[in-house]
Amino acid sequence: MIVLADMVKLLSWCIAQVRINKVAVVPTEGGQWIRKRRNPFCFVPIVVGNIVFGFRRVGVRVLHNHQWLEWESAVYAAMGISVKRQGAAGLLVPKFQGQPLLAAFDAQLMCAEEVIEVLALALKELYRLHQIEIVVDGKPVLFSHADASITNAIFDWETRAAVWVDFDLRHDLKQPASLRHADDLRAFTSTSIRCLAIEVPSDELFEKYMQAMKRAYPDEQVWQQYHDFQHGFWNVIDLFAYAQGFRCMSACRALPPK
Ligand SMILES: Nc1ncnc2c1ncn2[C@@H]1O[C@H](COP(=O)(O)OP(=O)(O)O)[C@@H](O)[C@H]1O
Ligand SMILES: [Mg+2]
Repeated sequence: MIVLADMVKLLSWCIAQVRINKVAVVPTEGGQWIRKRRNPFCFVPIVVGNIVFGFRRVGVRVLHNHQWLEWESAVYAAMGISVKRQGAAGLLVPKFQGQPLLAAFDAQLMCAEEVIEVLALALKELYRLHQIEIVVDGKPVLFSHADASITNAIFDWETRAAVWVDFDLRHDLKQPASLRHADDLRAFTSTSIRCLAIEVPSDELFEKYMQAMKRAYPDEQVWQQYHDFQHGFWNVIDLFAYAQGFRCMSACRALPPK
C-alpha cells in the first residue's frame, strides 16, 4: 500500500512538471496582453494526460488546440472579456490588474484572518462563475473550471477583486454540475489551505477558514458532494489532485524571499 502511495506521488510530481503552454506578457499600444501558446509536441503529454485523467471520479480532459481555443474564448466571453485568437494555437487575453493569489499573500505579509478574507473573495468569484451557462455544441452547460487551484486566480489588491484564468482543461461535461463544482471546491480548498500555515493549521484556524469558505460558496449540495469526495477511495489515487498540490508548492517556492 505504501509502495502504491509513493508511486502515485512520484507520477503526480512528474505530471506537475509538464508545461503544455508558453505564457508571456505582450505590450501593445492598447495595453498589456497575455499571450498563451501551445508548446511544440504538447500533444504527447495531452494524449497521455487524458488517458490518466479519464480514470478520475470526475473526468478531466486537457483540450486539444481547437477545442481549447473555443472553450477558453467562450468562457472569457461569458465573463464579459474579449480575447483575440493568434494563429492556430495562440490566444491573447487582456492582462488583468493584480498578482497571482499566492504572490499577493507573500507581498502583503498578511495575518491568517486577512488571508482567509482574500481567499473567500476568490471563492465567491468562483461561485459566481459556476452560475454562468456556456453554450457547447449548441447546448448550454453550467461552467466549471476543472483546475481551480489558487495558482489560477489573480487578486487585485486595490479593488479587492479576484479573477480566474486558465481554461484549457475541461471537466467531462456529461457529469452533473454539482459533481464538477465539488471538484473545483476540492482543488481550491486543498491548494488554498496551504496559505494559512506552512504545516497543518490549528483546529480553530481550520474551522474559521471552513466557515468563511461556506459563506463564500453558499451551495449546500455541492459541499455535501465535496465531503463525500474527502472520504472516497478515488481521493487516495487521484494523480491530478496531487499534481495540483505539487504545482502550487513549486509556485510558492518560485516567489521571491520575504
Ligand atoms: N489574463 C491574465 N492576466 C494576468 N495574468 C495572467 C493572465 N493569464 C494568465 N496569467 C498568469 O500566467 C500564469 C499562467 O497562465 P495560465 O493560463 O494559468 O497557463 P498554464 O496553463 O500554463 O497554467 C497564471 O497562473 C497567471 O499568473
Ligand atoms: Mg495555470
